[in-house]
Amino acid sequence: MLKVLVASSKGGAGKSTIATNLAANFAVDGKNTVLVDADRQGSSLHWSERRSVHPNAVLGVPGLRRDWAKHVPDDAQRVVIDTAAGITAGEVGEWLEFADVLIVPVLPSAIDLEATMPFLDEVAELPRVKKGKAAVGLVANRLKPWTNASQLAVEEMQSLPFPLVAQLRDTQGYVLANALGKSIFDYHSEQVRSHQDDWAKLLRWLKKNG
Ligand SMILES: Nc1ncnc2c1ncn2[C@@H]1O[C@H](COP(=O)(O)OP(=O)(O)O)[C@@H](O)[C@H]1O
Ligand SMILES: [Mg+2]
Repeated sequence: MLKVLVASSKGGAGKSTIATNLAANFAVDGKNTVLVDADRQGSSLHWSERRSVHPNAVLGVPGLRRDWAKHVPDDAQRVVIDTAAGITAGEVGEWLEFADVLIVPVLPSAIDLEATMPFLDEVAELPRVKKGKAAVGLVANRLKPWTNASQLAVEEMQSLPFPLVAQLRDTQGYVLANALGKSIFDYHSEQVRSHQDDWAKLLRWLKKNG
């Protein structure tokens, strides 16, 4: 059972967008997939409810209850955990007791990078991370690759203590799909396929490190 934690100290970086699209990717791939939502806002739970009428459903589990793990069925093959903004490195450490890998989304702006750096330094000191038992990957999200700001931010991210495992572009596709309980992996147009390609490196990294 591969368990993926999605967390960042910063709000609005794309945790729920990444958690829901990743969960959908696993489900479309035929895996029994559970999406644990540890954010009071419930974005991931609401999405899994919207998705329940579509093929390749994902089971939503509220993650704020102490006994959340009991609600994950034994036959689950993939578990994605979405968390709330403002999470501390210590709390990430507690969730990492259950997870194999941590994905940290970062937006391409100085404000977001500066806010995330101290969090990443603390994450690097977590015992499971230090011992190499839990891999950490950064995802640059909402990139506009043709802009200087995005290019500079990506360069800066490449010098952070963890590997940059995906560069996801800014597209309304994520917003529209989410509203319907869907993901970019539920569509097959040429344009959507180019956005699916943005995930290839991340999916390979998960296979290697999960
Ligand atoms: N790659 C993207 N392209 C366009 N919009 C995005 C992208 N990623 C996230 N968003 C939008 O940005 C907002 C914040 O994303 P969300 O996933 O809710 O972040 P978080 O869960 O970290 O708070 C949402 O409105 C979401 O639809
Ligand atoms: Mg969220």
